[in-house]
Amino acid sequence: MEEKYEAAKNCLTKHNQSQLLSNYKNLSSEKKEKLLDQILTIEFNQIEELYESTKKEVSFANDKIEPINYVDKGALTDDELKKYNSLGEEVIKEGKYAVVTMAGGQGTRLGHNGPKGTFKLGLDKDKSIFEILSDSIKKNSEKYGVIIPWYIMTSRENNEQTEQFFKQNNYFGYDSSAITFFKQGELPMCSEDGKLLIDENGLIKEAADGHGGIFESMRRNGIIYDMEKRGVEWAFIGPVDNVLVKMVDPTLLGVALDKNVQAAGKSVVKAGPKEKVGVFCKKNGKPGVVEYTEITPDLAEATDENGELIFGESHINCNLFSVKAIEEVSKKKLPYHCAHKKAKYINENGELVVPEKPNAYKFESFIFDAFDMLEDMAILRVKREEEFAPVKNAEGNDSPETAIKLYKDFYGIK
Ligand code: UD1
Repeated sequence: MEEKYEAAKNCLTKHNQSQLLSNYKNLSSEKKEKLLDQILTIEFNQIEELYESTKKEVSFANDKIEPINYVDKGALTDDELKKYNSLGEEVIKEGKYAVVTMAGGQGTRLGHNGPKGTFKLGLDKDKSIFEILSDSIKKNSEKYGVIIPWYIMTSRENNEQTEQFFKQNNYFGYDSSAITFFKQGELPMCSEDGKLLIDENGLIKEAADGHGGIFESMRRNGIIYDMEKRGVEWAFIGPVDNVLVKMVDPTLLGVALDKNVQAAGKSVVKAGPKEKVGVFCKKNGKPGVVEYTEITPDLAEATDENGELIFGESHINCNLFSVKAIEEVSKKKLPYHCAHKKAKYINENGELVVPEKPNAYKFESFIFDAFDMLEDMAILRVKREEEFAPVKNAEGNDSPETAIKLYKDFYGIK
């Protein structure tokens, strides 16, 4: 331990992070060991680079941002729709299709104490979001006569609770051997002056590293291998926070197959320039998404001669990838985006600091940054009222109240 402590201390001196050992002596021996392990495994050079990136404004000045082509589902003829559906259905029926749910987020905005999927919307016999999703997968499994494998990405913070929830609810009657949980990665947060922080457990404060880490996590956790073993060739990767999400959609898959691309995404028409959604675009000739936290007012507000938003195809986090593409992307590094957040921490005097305004940076990669690593992708524009009922905030827009209304309207529930 002595030797390990010295190695950690030297490493911290080199990287100007010695504050991390300020309260070391007060920790239990188990935590001492954990803290030293963290220090010796963190890639400080990467954190330094990420911290430097927080000083630069995100700008698209040097990028060529153009609108992107899409297939409008509402404008397809019956024959076209049939063609896409039968292409997709064939693959699903052959058992080559899986669903992945991204449930690693903390859902802080919703103010729910627990994994977001355990939140009960108060409809349909008070079902949780996980039960609503599971019902949809079950229904599709019956429809296509296959057990669709379901992978759920959690985080260190919510994995145990999520697994317990499924167990307590008897996996909502779905085949438990078709459900696999895996944890996403994490990265340390840092203060506004680039210092790493200590959390309430005396360890380095880390946070989920965004859903862009999903590809690497799938490889690291053997999910890609498991998919290949089961003969899965396509995976839908979608969010936990949309109660109308269509996870098994032959049309989307059919469009991708027809276009001979390795990825596809769904869009809905953006409600207005300020809606908190990313938008699809072509960035330097490659497909991509500009996130709402980074879009400039010029791009967000630009309209065409008919007054329509030029960047109006909202990304609703419904992503389809071939397993081949997942494997390819899992070996590459996605860029990180930075968010300014409130982070509780223990200061050098051992006192808990609870900030009232953002005091730290969190680094996340985004799943849609994988799109520009691929040659091309397909985009299917669908109807908002049929597929997008997000549950993000405790009240107002995208809240349980708005999601309940959309859900009831769609299913014709009084
Ligand atoms: C997200 C999209 C945005 C899109 C909008 C549609 C991102 C970065 N942005 O915004 O482009 O228009 O949804 O509703 O996704 N998650 C993880 N791990 C993480 C972070 C998130 O699994 O580390 C999951 C969440 O559990 C959730 C989904 O990803 O299922 C979206 O996460 P969130 O960060 O809430 O995205 P939004 O800001 O709402």
